[in-house]
Amino acid sequence: MSSSSSSAPPRALKIGIIGFGPFAQFLVETMLKQGHSIRATSRSDYSEQCARLGIPFIRDMHEFLQSDNEVILLCTSILSLSEVVKSIPFQCLKQPTLFADVLSVKEYPRDVLQQALPPDSDLLCTHPMFGPESGKNGWKGLTFMYEKVRIRNEAICSSFLQIFSSEGCRMLEMTCEEHDKLAARSQFLTHTIGRVLAEMHIEPTPIDTKGFEKLFQVKESTVKDSFDLFSGLFTHNRFARQQLKNFEIAFENVKQKLLNRMNE
Ligand SMILES: NC(=O)c1ccc[n+]([C@@H]2O[C@H](COP(=O)([O-])OP(=O)(O)OC[C@H]3O[C@@H](n4cnc5c(N)ncnc54)[C@H](OP(=O)(O)O)[C@@H]3O)[C@@H](O)[C@H]2O)c1
Repeated sequence: MSSSSSSAPPRALKIGIIGFGPFAQFLVETMLKQGHSIRATSRSDYSEQCARLGIPFIRDMHEFLQSDNEVILLCTSILSLSEVVKSIPFQCLKQPTLFADVLSVKEYPRDVLQQALPPDSDLLCTHPMFGPESGKNGWKGLTFMYEKVRIRNEAICSSFLQIFSSEGCRMLEMTCEEHDKLAARSQFLTHTIGRVLAEMHIEPTPIDTKGFEKLFQVKESTVKDSFDLFSGLFTHNRFARQQLKNFEIAFENVKQKLLNRMNE
């Protein structure tokens, strides 16, 4: 694992985005501010949103792939990745291209993309550890994890990484496997607890402690993400199942300790 940061301004890249949902739209704001040339495609029609941003929305995947992208950034949901990748007509690519993804699990897209990409395409797996809520006031100090899975064009890859390092992100290079182990213990656990609190319909009271305020924030921020995202964190991270078991066991242990003490 290694970490680095740099403040050099990124060179303008031609970036094609597949999947123009909430997270892609959030990333694009900063990419446009930095002067990159963006075009997007998605299952749903985002032509109005793209027109407002002044970027092309290219419905047809063939046309999208032929649009001279140096980087193709996959921002689809975890659950739809395999279907989306299957629908990409890679033979339409006009040049060797860097494929990058931002999925919140990492071994899964690494494996799917390694199998599907043409041999001359590069692959960078990334996970920005922030979103529209935590990154709304800038990305300074927020963590950006990445693994250079298959990189020959170092210049394009490093220009892409500079999008994040130049905003002050804490750049962390680690393997996809290491990411998934750590993310199961941190992000998946946070989302699970947030979803449990949402099931309990917790609401602020007039006598909230600071601790409860933080719990409420966890609930609020996790339910803002789609259930597809949460479900993907579980289904496509092989370490998440054990965490769910640990959570159940720990809850039972705590409950048992309370009951034992009460009965003493
Ligand atoms: N939200 C965050 O804070 C955050 C942070 C880091 C990484 N990520 C990752 O970024 C990616 C996007 O996240 P998100 O928050 O925007 O929401 P999401 O619900 O995880 O993904 C929404 C995107 O997936 C596409 N999609 C869903 N089902 C599809 C299907 N069957 N076929 C084709 N496309 C499909 C949607 O396309 P349409 O809109 O066109 O239907 C949309 O572009 C995810 O992989 C997530 O893990 C999110």
